[in-house]
Amino acid sequence: MKYPLCNLNEIPETGTKLVDFFGRQVHVYKSGDKVRAVANTCMHFGGPLDFNEQECKFVCQWHQAKFAAEDGQRLSGPAPSQSKLMFLSTRVEEGVLHYVWGE
Ligand code: FES
Repeated sequence: MKYPLCNLNEIPETGTKLVDFFGRQVHVYKSGDKVRAVANTCMHFGGPLDFNEQECKFVCQWHQAKFAAEDGQRLSGPAPSQSKLMFLSTRVEEGVLHYVWGE
């Protein structure tokens, strides 16, 4: 399965771009030399996440759990201490970032 998320040139140098993913949302962003796509879903009760550019962290809108942008690891707040955000497997083809599964 391969599903286009967005064009690479739509991804900002800082911050994230929210894209639709089968009726849900995914944050797409640059992290070092990588492009990442992570579900906009907190690991506590599933709240939506804001991206804090200054701290380079995701912060849940509901109870303020924080997660590292580089690996999704929970940093603080009520989400389980060993939890991580859900990253999508992706591949770039011809300037387009795709979600890929089972290829
Ligand atoms: S739902 Fe995210 S901290 Fe509670």
